[in-house]
Amino acid sequence: MKVLGISGSPRRDGNTDYAVRRALDLIKERLPEAETEFIRIADHRIEHCRGCRYCMEAVECIIKDDDLDLLVGKMHDADLILLGAPVYWWGPPGVLKDFIDRTHGFYPDDKRFAGKKVAVITVAAQSGYPTHEKTMSWLQHYGAEYVGKLRLRAREKDELKRKPRQLKRLETFAANLASTLQ
Ligand SMILES: Cc1cc2nc3c(=O)[nH]c(=O)nc-3n(C[C@H](O)[C@H](O)[C@H](O)COP(=O)(O)O)c2cc1C
Repeated sequence: MKVLGISGSPRRDGNTDYAVRRALDLIKERLPEAETEFIRIADHRIEHCRGCRYCMEAVECIIKDDDLDLLVGKMHDADLILLGAPVYWWGPPGVLKDFIDRTHGFYPDDKRFAGKKVAVITVAAQSGYPTHEKTMSWLQHYGAEYVGKLRLRAREKDELKRKPRQLKRLETFAANLASTLQ
């Protein structure tokens, strides 16, 4: 069983990276047999969608020299995808939005993530959760089942680590995810 944690934050070691890593560790504590992996979209090269609509006929993206296939391959290998991202103006940061846009090419083969579970962690200073979660739910379109979402509040780097009530909520969230995999 494999759990893939993806951080969509451009800020290395910020609140989102921390939350996703911590959730993976907590799941691993409950399910020692699970294989976990953490990746940051911002550590990979993902070009902007060009809007050329080549993918609508070819069912593949015209851009071949970046890391899209690598990241999508990791998602295909996972049983649970744990997606974390901060709110940037009511939605995910550009690095993650570019990735989301580039999956448009799967559209005709629209159930390729059937059987995958997805959970979403949203970090924001205070606002924008509903619109952000709507965009983060795009994998539903491809058949994935969303099994949980968590809204965390933090602004400055390392702020989340110092918030015991938020960390408790993260623990409960991870425990619930672990139980969906049993
Ligand atoms: C460009 C930008 C836009 C932001 N927009 C929002 C917003 O709309 N609502 C909000 O509550 N916080 C907003 N924030 C605050 C971040 O969500 C917050 O700092 C979060 O903790 C960052 O996560 P990170 O530590 O993983 O980078 C914004 C931050 C940036 C840099």
